[in-house]
Amino acid sequence: MSSPKTVVVLPGDGLGPEVMAEALKVISWFNQNFAANIQTVEGDIGGCSIDKHGVPLSDTTLDKCRAADAVLLAAVGGPKWDKVDYNIRPEAGLLKLRKSLELFANLRPAKVFDALVDASTLKREVVQGLDILIVRELTGGVYFGEPRGIETLPNGERRGINTQVYTTSEIHRVTRVAFDMARKRQNRVCSAEKANVMESGKLWREEVTALHAAEYKDVELSHMYADNCAMQLCRRPSQFDVIVTDNLFGDILSDEAAMLTGSLGMLPSASLGAVKPNGKRAALYEPIHGSAPDIAGKGIANPLATILSVAMMFRYSFDMKNEADILEQAIEAVLNKGLRTADIMSEGGTKLSTAEMGNAVIETLSAARKQSAA
Ligand code: NAD
Ligand code: IPM
Ligand code: MN
Repeated sequence: MSSPKTVVVLPGDGLGPEVMAEALKVISWFNQNFAANIQTVEGDIGGCSIDKHGVPLSDTTLDKCRAADAVLLAAVGGPKWDKVDYNIRPEAGLLKLRKSLELFANLRPAKVFDALVDASTLKREVVQGLDILIVRELTGGVYFGEPRGIETLPNGERRGINTQVYTTSEIHRVTRVAFDMARKRQNRVCSAEKANVMESGKLWREEVTALHAAEYKDVELSHMYADNCAMQLCRRPSQFDVIVTDNLFGDILSDEAAMLTGSLGMLPSASLGAVKPNGKRAALYEPIHGSAPDIAGKGIANPLATILSVAMMFRYSFDMKNEADILEQAIEAVLNKGLRTADIMSEGGTKLSTAEMGNAVIETLSAARKQSAA
């Protein structure tokens, strides 16, 4: 049996509990069949935490997350909490979690499964075989910069303020992750910013260039303005291998990249902290989508982004590469059978509910296990 691991599970709001239930089935399958030895502990985050505890992330939950080997989150937010004070909104809980655990590197892989090529709104030849990794800076930039707020001016007008700010070390540490990842892939990094209009963008470009020259000359580096990058992602996404970018641009570009894969319901993510002296690193795994109020409670959400986040957890936190491969192959096999949730449904496919999709993954895992034992 492998060493014991603790995962804090945060289902959150909206479709969160629905997709998390399927991810939990997968974790318990690996506990039973691969002696994965993962113990899960539930916690509250987001709107459900506001309702129960008055805050979107309580110290109790945060302490549990700090003590755990990894955190798995589904989604937060929803119209019910739209009028809540800004700094205690559901989203503020997620931002606090990322910041408190110093999860500065957010990996968002957009991989197009062959079976889903026709689920994308883009042409088959544009998205086929696509495999991009967006490395999004997650604990800095305009999301956290000071000053921020809404003030009333002497003339009665109101003014909203946010500050985009980056330091050398913040840029270097996330770019290092991008270069290291690229070395294990196609060895190409494209850095996206707005160096043409923003000082923070100019600094970003200069620091990425300096780090490249000092430590990563073997990696091919290019720079692109973020607006052009958004356009190029639709025009010819295969030109990209790894994209490294700031917090806000990374948020936007990754939602766009999700649509190359067919649906927001397909994109997982890993948010990682620095490697500590004991070799461990804080880590949070979550789908990139939100709580989807429009479909929450209907049992039709796609759980695959959350299940793929479990595969990323196996790979990055638990050194369970074999198990991650097995899980990703099972998902691919499910899609190859034409099994689909509504968001990725296409002609000839079989439409499944959220729970049916989770069960299909489990059945496929079990069938593959039986076959390899035979
Ligand atoms: P969203 O990602 O929740 O939904 C956008 C669209 O994608 C919707 O049409 C939704 O139905 C669809 N979608 C999302 N996930 C899906 C899935 N798994 N299966 C099928 N379809 C799916 O974005 P939004 O509507 O702009 O935001 C809703 C709420 O979620 C807001 O409160 C927002 O702040 C929050 N949010 C949270 C996270 C997070 O927790 N990480 C991420 C994004 C948005
Ligand atoms: C995401 C979300 C979050 C973000 C929100 C909910 C804080 O959109 O994870 O992509 O903007 O980072
Ligand atoms: Mn987002």
